[in-house]
Amino acid sequence: MQKVTYLNKAVFPVAGLGTRFLPATKAQPKEMLPVVDKPLIQYAVEEAYAAGIRHMIFVTGRNKRAIEDHFDTAYELENELEVAQKHDLLALVRSIQRPDMDFSYVRQPRSLGLGHAVLCAEHLVGQEPFAVLLADDLMAGLADGQPVLAQMAAQFEKLQQSILAVQEVPLAHTRRYGIVAGEPAGDQLIKVTAMVEKPAPEAAPSRMGVAGRYILTPAVFRHIRSQASGVGGEIQLTDGIASLLDEESVYAFQYEGKRYDCGSKEGFLEATVELALQHPEVGAHFRNYLKNLQLN
Ligand code: UTP
Repeated sequence: MQKVTYLNKAVFPVAGLGTRFLPATKAQPKEMLPVVDKPLIQYAVEEAYAAGIRHMIFVTGRNKRAIEDHFDTAYELENELEVAQKHDLLALVRSIQRPDMDFSYVRQPRSLGLGHAVLCAEHLVGQEPFAVLLADDLMAGLADGQPVLAQMAAQFEKLQQSILAVQEVPLAHTRRYGIVAGEPAGDQLIKVTAMVEKPAPEAAPSRMGVAGRYILTPAVFRHIRSQASGVGGEIQLTDGIASLLDEESVYAFQYEGKRYDCGSKEGFLEATVELALQHPEVGAHFRNYLKNLQLN
């Protein structure tokens, strides 16, 4: 019988420069930008936790210290809150770093691409399957459903193969995504036969674009390592996965939920408006405010 392996590690590549958000990202990480009241990276870590993952591995770079501080104990702040008897805020601050979570950090010395960033975490991942979450893709599961990575982890338990989150994208936008081609393989699943990074619409093999959630087998490291630079002169994760196809099956999974591209200003604003509307504290007020806006 096949040994079933569970996911326990997630890699968060956060070493990018975030140039689309300058000047906000000159001295602070893009991943610390808040949507309503929570930084993007915390949404991603909570999603990994909800999928059963407990070891969080960050691939960081220069100017990213705020991420380490966010997931560390804030002694002075916690002490102040305790003295002031602000128990709710204290619980909120402490809930960021749960006792059963482990955090590891590794530096990517230069922004050589997403594939290179993932490779920097190889020694921390070892010979285990792992998830990759791009925090600038904020994924909202359906209101009554599971978060996106938990949906993928459930598929992984059955398939024990690499799984990529995909969504149908407008043909005009294929240049923004890794695009997969493949054959239907059951409910919400496609067995991938080819994968291309950021193709022009006329060269795209389909309209299935990869969103920033992956579950990968450790064999992918060897394939990334053997890749030359790809699109944009960067070592692309997509090229590593395309090469992995020669050795193992890879599945694309059409998740239930909504992706906000918070690496772009438009996506960030959409996420802010929609999550603010759902927020228990400010939602009702914000809905009223929007209703009364005089938009021409
Ligand atoms: P992006 O393409 O969004 O890059 O990377 P970016 O540099 O952060 O942002 P822009 O395009 O300049 O505005 C997708 C993800 O991969 C990480 C980024 O941090 C982001 O989470 N990444 C990218 C790395 O960790 N290292 C890299 O060399 C490149």
